Amino acid sequence: MTRAITRRTALVLGGLGVVAVAGGGALLWAGLNPAGPRTGIPDGFTSGDDLSQPTELRSTGGLLDMALSAAPAAATIGGRAASVLGYNGGLPGPTLRLRAGDRVRVALKNGLADPTNLHVHGLHVSPEGNGDNMAVMVAAGESFDYEYRLPANHPPGVYWYHPHHHGTVADQVFGGLYGAIVVDDRAPIETSRERVLVISDITLDGAGTVAGASAAQRMQGREGELVLVNGQLAPTLSLRPGERERWRIVNACVSRYLRLRLDGHRLQLLGIDSGRLEKPAEVDEIVLVPGNRADVLVTSGSGSAILRTLAYDRGTATSGGMMGGSRQRATGSDVTLATVMVGGDPAAALAAVPRQPAPTDLRGSTVTARRELDFAMGMGMNGGSMMGFTINGQEFDPGRLDTTVLAGSVEEWTLRNGSGMDHPFHLHVWPMQIVAQGGAAETDVVWRDVVNVPAGGQVAVRIGFADFAGRTVYHCHILDHEDAGMMGTILAR
Ligand code: C2O
Ligand code: CU
Ligand code: CU
Repeated sequence: MTRAITRRTALVLGGLGVVAVAGGGALLWAGLNPAGPRTGIPDGFTSGDDLSQPTELRSTGGLLDMALSAAPAAATIGGRAASVLGYNGGLPGPTLRLRAGDRVRVALKNGLADPTNLHVHGLHVSPEGNGDNMAVMVAAGESFDYEYRLPANHPPGVYWYHPHHHGTVADQVFGGLYGAIVVDDRAPIETSRERVLVISDITLDGAGTVAGASAAQRMQGREGELVLVNGQLAPTLSLRPGERERWRIVNACVSRYLRLRLDGHRLQLLGIDSGRLEKPAEVDEIVLVPGNRADVLVTSGSGSAILRTLAYDRGTATSGGMMGGSRQRATGSDVTLATVMVGGDPAAALAAVPRQPAPTDLRGSTVTARRELDFAMGMGMNGGSMMGFTINGQEFDPGRLDTTVLAGSVEEWTLRNGSGMDHPFHLHVWPMQIVAQGGAAETDVVWRDVVNVPAGGQVAVRIGFADFAGRTVYHCHILDHEDAGMMGTILAR
């Protein structure tokens, strides 16, 4: 049975309070818009299919040995045929399910027309050799064998992988190249079902091919017209009342900030990015900037609801007269991500979440160096007409070493943003502890591997350069900004 619900139909049904039968009649809609009308589903697209799960590849005996091909792929998005990019033909690619101490071998085959490579975002692994090495470039038609070794104490959490070839990252991720990585907990947390929700956005042209981005869109950071969950447009998830599920949510959007809400249901945050909170945090809203992930328990209430992302004001790319004086704000808009339908017999309550070890707190550590990183958008380095995206006044140069740190040391970095737009700052290999925001000390222990630095604001982070030496990068995770040069190199030695 197909449930093609266009935005218009949904509004009409919602307005009339009609009860529609779906999924073979097992579930009833308790009004289609308990949390407001569905938004962000353009005319001509359908929605409401059951949420699917990407293929899962699981390590066995401490090893995951897999092939990963990056290539053009055919997809059906919102009922329409689309030509996208995919890992192993999927949108998203397979979910890698790992454990601390695992070895992961990935034979990457580049079936694209352009160079690519692979980054395992957030994994605490070596950046050297055939590890998570950003200097690796895989030409069209070529292959490369990556190998990652997760330390025995690797934190559990949600991670992800995507291409990282400088200059093409935004286009390749926007086209569909991303997938989730889950590192399992040591002691399982009881749930009735686990789901991965990879959230991405994309724009398709009339022929179903992925639309390119204009210079102005790249400057702002492109936001796709369609916001997808596991490659699907506004799919449906079905739960029984009181049922507790675990959702692993990835923000794989090139630039879009997510402010997730699911009103009427209980959300318990287990962690953001890597590691665990000591005890779950009860939340109403989860903010994920590009690259962030959330690990969350969802306990359904009695009524159906809409999983939404609310508009977020990222500010303005001040372009002066260069781009025709455009000063459009990148505010995004409220978007329906999925419908959660509740029906059937109430589920029995599950055991409380076991208390987790307290996260490391670097506020008591000796800081061996303090640095400042300044994020700016201004005239290009060579005075050209394109806007330049810089860190400490410099655009990315892979041949230049920007920051050298002592392996094993703890540093404090002040991230300053003098521009009119937010920049989500990401460091590879080592997560960051936020110790102050806007000059005020952070009272909680907050870890992220992507930290938002608000327009005109500043954030201080502490970083422990533990376990690995080697060279890698940090950058703005608005991938258009990264491609435009807002990236630097770092060596731990
Ligand atoms: Cu998710 Cu350097 O990237
Ligand atoms: Cu990364
Ligand atoms: Cu940026």
